[in-house]
Amino acid sequence: MHDHSSHRRALIRYLAASPLLAGLATIGCGDIEEQGAKALDRLGTLGEPDQELGEVIQSAEDALDVFDFRVTAESTLPAAHYGYIATGVDGDATLRANRSAFDRWQIRNRRLVAIDNVRTDTTLLGTAMETPIVVMPTGSQRAFHPDGEIATARAAKAQKHLMLLSTVSTTSVEDVAEARGEPIWYQLYPTSQWTITERLLRRAEGAGCPVVVLTVDLPIPSNRLSLSRWIKRDRRDCTQCHASAGAYDSLNTSFSRKPMFDGVEMKNEYLDTPMHTWEFVDRLKAATPMRVVVKGIVTAEDAERCVQHGADGIVVSNHGGRAEESGRGTIDSLPEVAAAVRGRIPVILDSGVRRGADVFKALALGADAVGIGRPYLWGLGAFGQAGVEAVLRILRAELRTVMGLAGTRTLAEIRDHRVVREGG
Ligand SMILES: Cc1cc2nc3c(=O)[nH]c(=O)nc-3n(C[C@H](O)[C@H](O)[C@H](O)COP(=O)(O)O)c2cc1C
Repeated sequence: MHDHSSHRRALIRYLAASPLLAGLATIGCGDIEEQGAKALDRLGTLGEPDQELGEVIQSAEDALDVFDFRVTAESTLPAAHYGYIATGVDGDATLRANRSAFDRWQIRNRRLVAIDNVRTDTTLLGTAMETPIVVMPTGSQRAFHPDGEIATARAAKAQKHLMLLSTVSTTSVEDVAEARGEPIWYQLYPTSQWTITERLLRRAEGAGCPVVVLTVDLPIPSNRLSLSRWIKRDRRDCTQCHASAGAYDSLNTSFSRKPMFDGVEMKNEYLDTPMHTWEFVDRLKAATPMRVVVKGIVTAEDAERCVQHGADGIVVSNHGGRAEESGRGTIDSLPEVAAAVRGRIPVILDSGVRRGADVFKALALGADAVGIGRPYLWGLGAFGQAGVEAVLRILRAELRTVMGLAGTRTLAEIRDHRVVREGG
């Protein structure tokens, strides 16, 4: 109890001194400690847990961990845009579970292993990678920095990471592939009309993408409650960019502004696909020479189905807690998926990965690679390309340190006996 309240007081003092509250102080919004307490409650109830607050930083080089970028992005971006990154669904239970589930897995470190040459290189579906850390697809990146996906692609190029590009990107697949300089993977949200999906596939193929990643965890719109709260705080007039005054368009109303839909009649078109079943995977496989990876798998049964339907890979993901309120973190779904797949196709895990130790735990539990979403968007929002680069650099360095301290020299040595579940 004492520990909790002194921790809370320290956080309130920190918040009182933070630029987050500076504006309130100068316009006479009342007692600064009271404001700090309110802000703390707010941060504690919206978004991720409050024990990982980070600090506002002036330059990307000042960051100690990825959370410094989160606080800095929150203080830099318009409330609605930051809210779009941060939101979960309903009461944000899955969002929180994605983090807390990692804490329940512990690493079993071995001693006196020669660790002077730790290596993190690997190959994923023919793509050679220096690191297993992958930049996952996120839409609308120009809402976070004017350079948007181009900044992310240049950072991925500089730090040599595999990048996945969203269907609802604010830059075309052709331009992003060129900025990255190596093949990127294309994430597909199919539309209700197959001809439009075919058109997206042809453009991705033409841009040199070797892999298409079909996202299957958002067949209907999700209830992004925290986003609605952030939007209420945003007092700007957003009608110049957005169809509705509420600063947020559903996927269905915003795609007229997305370059991948240029020249396509989208009037009666939807990105929601509640009618899709496993036959859609068959159809996709038959329609493209690209390898097909299915993103959003969280159970052994569906992992087996992926293999049966010829999927070339799986992403264990719950969309970063933005789709469903299962309350289950992906790291807890990974063991059953890995056991069902039995190494037949590669498995990537994302959702809640924030530290090198998280990457290590996911690799130990059967992932071949590990993806991040929000951390690089915080870097992008705070400092553009330099921020994304710093996030990737930090996570890579953390992974190497965790690997060395665990006595693992290569990714192949990170097996399931390296971790144990709390109480196990
Ligand atoms: C702002 C934002 C936009 C996203 N857009 C997409 C998208 O367009 N397509 C997709 O498959 N996943 C999308 N995702 C989910 C990510 O690909 C990834 O699964 C998730 O962010 C991983 O969780 P993390 O943010 O906790 O790292 C988005 C995530 C965020 C935060």
